[in-house]
Amino acid sequence: MQVTWEMLEDAVSDCRGCVLCQTRQHVVLGEGSRNADVMFVGEGPGQQEDEQGRPFVGPAGQLLDKMLAAIGLDRSVVYIANIVKCRPPHNRVPEAFEQNACLPYLRAQFVLVRPKILVCLGATAAKAVIRPDLRITRERGIWVDKKGTQILPTYHPSALLRDETGEKKREAWQDMKALRDRMKEMGIYPGQEVEADG
Ligand code: URA
Repeated sequence: MQVTWEMLEDAVSDCRGCVLCQTRQHVVLGEGSRNADVMFVGEGPGQQEDEQGRPFVGPAGQLLDKMLAAIGLDRSVVYIANIVKCRPPHNRVPEAFEQNACLPYLRAQFVLVRPKILVCLGATAAKAVIRPDLRITRERGIWVDKKGTQILPTYHPSALLRDETGEKKREAWQDMKALRDRMKEMGIYPGQEVEADG
């Protein structure tokens, strides 16, 4: 049976699939265009996301907004989700069993949105979506084709906020330009050209 958004929202809203439900304030399913060609996947909600029930609204989210704006996009044209839908205490990396409990929700989101491009933000998302032994520092920027979906692993915005040398920021900017160029090649770029250099 084809899952609907309503079924998914219903199931997620009172999910007790793992221990993260015990400490959450809100489940954070995702947001953006349900017809998006590009879907971003992060790790899991942080404090502000947990408080508001929306993904990427804290400092990392503000940086993600800027990264999108730098290539002429905004949240309304992409879809944004996370590997786990409930905040891990103290923002720790979600455990494998927590990720596994939550992955069916991400799969359902993927089936409903049908994005052509999936951008994995950070190691947790890239490992869960691409390969468990992926190394984000070595493999960021390298596109992977999975059953016709183009997948781009890149750094998590939180890692960019901690980046002291600026090297990761430069690499992430390369990745965003590569995303924009791939969207143009695929004829799915809705953005306005903006001249930004990092
Ligand atoms: N970090 C994430 O991985 N996801 C969010 O929604 C916010 C911060």
